Amino acid sequence: MTELNAQQQVIDQTIATLKDKPGALLPILHGLQDALGYIPPHSVADIAKALNLSRAEVHGVISFYHYFRDTPPGKHTIHICRAESCQAMGSTQLESHVKSTLGIDYHETTADGQFSLEPVYCLGNCACSPAIQIDKEIYGRVSNESFDAIINELGASA
Ligand code: FES
Repeated sequence: MTELNAQQQVIDQTIATLKDKPGALLPILHGLQDALGYIPPHSVADIAKALNLSRAEVHGVISFYHYFRDTPPGKHTIHICRAESCQAMGSTQLESHVKSTLGIDYHETTADGQFSLEPVYCLGNCACSPAIQIDKEIYGRVSNESFDAIINELGASA
C-alpha cells in the first residue's frame, strides 16, 4: 500500500468512526492529527462531505485553533512553556533565542524538516522553569546554551 493510500485509509476510518458523534468535527480533527501528525488539506473535502458542512467551515475551524496543523510536523516538535512561572524565569528570552537559532516562529517547521516549534502553557514542571518539551521529553532550567546542546545532539542523531 502506498503512503498516500495508507493515509487515505486513516482518514476514511477516522471519519467513519466519529462522524455520528455529536459535535463530530473537533473529534475528527483531533483523531486525524493524533494519527497522522497533521490534518492533510485533501481531507477537508471528505470531512465536509461526511458532516454536511462546507469546506470553508471545516477550514475555518482548522485555522481558528492554532493546535491544528495542516502541514506535516518536523521530525522533532519543540514546545516552549509560555506560562507564568517560566516567564518569570526567563522563558521570553529563551523563546527569542530558540526562534532565531532555528529561524522559525511558532507553528512553523525548519526548512530541513527537523524541528517544529509550538507554544505550550505549563508543562507541570514549574519548579524547574524555564521548561521546554521536545517530543515526549521534558527539559527543565533550560538556558540558551543547554538548548543549543540539546538540539545539536538531536540533529546529530537525525
Ligand atoms: S509554568 Fe512552565 S512548566 Fe509550569
